Amino acid sequence: MVMLRFMTGNRNKVREAELALSQYGIGIVMETGLRKVEIQSDSLEEIVTYALRLNCVDWLVVEDDGLFIDSLNGFPGPYSEYVYRTIGLRGVLKLMQGVVNRGAYFKSVVGLCLGGGVKLFTGVVRGVLSEEPRGSGGFGYDPIFIPEGYGETFAEMGVELKAKLSHRSMAFKRLASYVTSLTGPGQGA
Ligand code: IMP
Repeated sequence: MVMLRFMTGNRNKVREAELALSQYGIGIVMETGLRKVEIQSDSLEEIVTYALRLNCVDWLVVEDDGLFIDSLNGFPGPYSEYVYRTIGLRGVLKLMQGVVNRGAYFKSVVGLCLGGGVKLFTGVVRGVLSEEPRGSGGFGYDPIFIPEGYGETFAEMGVELKAKLSHRSMAFKRLASYVTSLTGPGQGA
């Protein structure tokens, strides 16, 4: 069975990836022994590629993601973590006060190291920002993001439903299809 090693300190991300990958017979564990170096860049692809190239061992996975708000020209994007830590959800909602266009999307870029090369997979989920934080599940911007076609925020829905819809889940499923095309279903390293 292929066992991916996910370089992250975020258990929520690992859980979501696990749920997305389980139907493909691919496992994933948290890799805490390697230091993830995050360069500052406007490109998620560049951040992921750089982090992986420093430690390119087979089946190592790095993900970077962000929330891109339409009316703010994509802000905070790759700076989502910093903005979350500094102004938080309340600060973001304040920037959106009186703004009619509340459209936004999450984008995830997952990188996989295999045979000394890096392969990237992308997932995007569109939605709108709520007026107020709602729900207690998930992490980060989950309480203010309502995915398209739903009435609840990511934080209000269970992790199983979020894992079906999320940008991260989409990127990991694309990775799973690629790995399956190389190794066959449920086979591998
Ligand atoms: P990083 O990818 O861990 O560097 O950080 C991206 C930041 O975007 C996270 O710290 C969260 O604040 C936010 N973020 C990324 N994915 C999600 C998600 O699925 N839900 C809510 N917030 C997210």
